[in-house]
Amino acid sequence: MPFDPIYQRVSHVIPPVEWAGMEADVHAIQELKRARRAVILAHNYQTPEIFHGVADIVGDSLALAREAAKVEADVIVLAGVHFMAETAKLLNPEKTVLIPDAKAGCSLAESITPADIALLRAAHPGVPVVAYVNTSAAVKAASDICCTSGNAKKIVESLGVPKVIMLPDEYLAQNIARETQVQIVTWAGHCEVHERFTAADILALRDSHPGVTVLAHPECPPEVVAVADYAGSTADMAKFVTEKQPARVALITECSMSDNIAQANQSIEFVRPCNLCPHMKRITLANIRAALETMQTEVLIAADLVAPARRAVERMLAVK
Ligand code: 13P
Ligand code: SF4
Repeated sequence: MPFDPIYQRVSHVIPPVEWAGMEADVHAIQELKRARRAVILAHNYQTPEIFHGVADIVGDSLALAREAAKVEADVIVLAGVHFMAETAKLLNPEKTVLIPDAKAGCSLAESITPADIALLRAAHPGVPVVAYVNTSAAVKAASDICCTSGNAKKIVESLGVPKVIMLPDEYLAQNIARETQVQIVTWAGHCEVHERFTAADILALRDSHPGVTVLAHPECPPEVVAVADYAGSTADMAKFVTEKQPARVALITECSMSDNIAQANQSIEFVRPCNLCPHMKRITLANIRAALETMQTEVLIAADLVAPARRAVERMLAVK
């Protein structure tokens, strides 16, 4: 097993004794992918045995949407949360898209409905709606364009208007509002993982770990972003770490982020004041294997939502 080339990708973060319990599923999944002509798209918050052991494409929400549009396989397994699988399905209506646990939701996606958007539009006539991709297909269908944390400022400014409605993440909207002249109407949705970090946590971290470079996800409250050294999407954080090689770094986000980039950055000390996303953690090797064996659970989108929701996603992807 120490010579298993797949294990070599995770040996820094998974002890051999734990790998022994994962190996059979990893190899079975590799075999099933070939048999089903399937690819696995995994978000940066998936655990290392998924991220490095079975995924074909990894990335932030933006990269997963972009890559989903290019996939050539018959089946896509989305190792991530439900809205990510819906986005993959919108871009691949003729392919089978599977999510290993259909209950893998998101507090942001749960925080808003199309009826809420109708009320916002009535209160702000003519103001375009920018929907974070962390929303249901129904909410995307009721919006003008999508954005992710990796392109939010660019999308808001691409519309060429003085004011936009940006939903549902209040903190992302407030963080972007500080970087742009565009006026932003917000909604009170929050990520249950990132809303728990406080500025006091970061200041205490700086005291206990002198010299630490602090990177925060823009779903964190603005007071947290204000005391961080950098804010960016999960892919932007990984890029920052890889390029700048800070001696000591804290990623103010979900726990698997550090695990997944630690192997390739072994000289960096990762300080880990992280929070787990219970939804992302619903996805396991066992349920990925079961999804490929049973071809369940298939992600389906109501016929009347496909075209308008896809339009909002494609409009986002078209912004360079
Ligand atoms: P990214 O787009 O930065 O990967 O973020 C997705 C997400 O769910 C963060 O909580
Ligand atoms: Fe949703 Fe937050 Fe989990 Fe991302 S980390 S999937 S925004 S609950």
